[in-house]
Amino acid sequence: MERYAEATKQTYEGWEEFYSRPVDEKLSFFKQKGRIFDVIFAQQFDRRFLDDLCDLAEKIRLLAKTKMGAQKLSSLLPHKRAMLYFVQPSTRTFLSFQNACYLMGLNVSESRGTSTSSEVKGESPEDTIRTFASYVDLIISRHPEAGFAEKTAWVLNQTERPVPVLNGGSGPDQHPTQALLDIYTLQREFQASGGLDGKKIAMVGDLKRGRTVRSLSYLLKNYKDVTLYYVAPEVFRMKDDIKFFLKKHAIPFHETDDFQSVMPMVDAIYMTRIQNEYASDPKSETETFPAYHFKKEHLAKIHPHCAILHPLPRRYEIEVAVDKDPRAAYWRQERNGMWIRAAMIAHVFHVDQEILAEFS
Ligand code: NCD
Repeated sequence: MERYAEATKQTYEGWEEFYSRPVDEKLSFFKQKGRIFDVIFAQQFDRRFLDDLCDLAEKIRLLAKTKMGAQKLSSLLPHKRAMLYFVQPSTRTFLSFQNACYLMGLNVSESRGTSTSSEVKGESPEDTIRTFASYVDLIISRHPEAGFAEKTAWVLNQTERPVPVLNGGSGPDQHPTQALLDIYTLQREFQASGGLDGKKIAMVGDLKRGRTVRSLSYLLKNYKDVTLYYVAPEVFRMKDDIKFFLKKHAIPFHETDDFQSVMPMVDAIYMTRIQNEYASDPKSETETFPAYHFKKEHLAKIHPHCAILHPLPRRYEIEVAVDKDPRAAYWRQERNGMWIRAAMIAHVFHVDQEILAEFS
């Protein structure tokens, strides 16, 4: 439907000042009763939280295998409703959140674009979100604008009916729940090789505009002796804010444009897609950068335990022939997203202890 009016621009007093503060100073604003309430940044999670959440995801996965266990899970939150507001394309994040909600017994509403809502009439995104909060108990949002989820949570936390906001991707900035599922995947893949501590991890491709590698870099600070290898062509190098963060936390990292040289050195390779949707003219970016593609022949070069990850969707970054190799972890990785998101929802609604009690 065509818009009758441009989105109304509203002024929220104090927002610009809040937005400009360093993340560390803002974290308490997204907590309630000492627990994470809104999930906005990867910097919100510490090691203890990550270990507990992965353990919870593991328990949910086990319970969901049986009829009795699944019934137990779906009996936990039938009095809660969630809104999935996804105004940027999504397959995995949308479906894994939706199915995580189903697992936990929540009812789900969705909006996958602005063309059929009152945004056509010029309603601002902030008023639209506030409207969702009138009907539901949880908002999960994906938006092309950096800072959108943060602003949503900031606005709602000052209303009479604050509901938790989970950031399902905020433009080229962050994708914190993707980083959670990536950590959960790495931990599972490294079960036989001593866990995540001490591992060497390569991130490959469009590191400049890829939000997944940014959020994952933040999370890796929580692990001991991890070394990062940023592998990218000159135009897609990791931005300075992340490198500054790594330096501040004494996390060693190397930057190179030579993918082949890194392959034999690392315990995990995290491939990414070129994020041309953020270019001023997306169709003009036709270069596929084959030097940053992982091919079947490369399997012989990597460690026998090296895990290959990709947040997906892929284009040409990983040849299909690689899928059959046991080290190809990306299809397991996308399924892990459903379990870790269910765990996150359980945490936000304080039903984590009830799940753990099933195992005591
Ligand atoms: C990623 C995203 O949307 O940032 N996809 C996802 O959520 N699994 C990565 C991408 O689109 O390249």
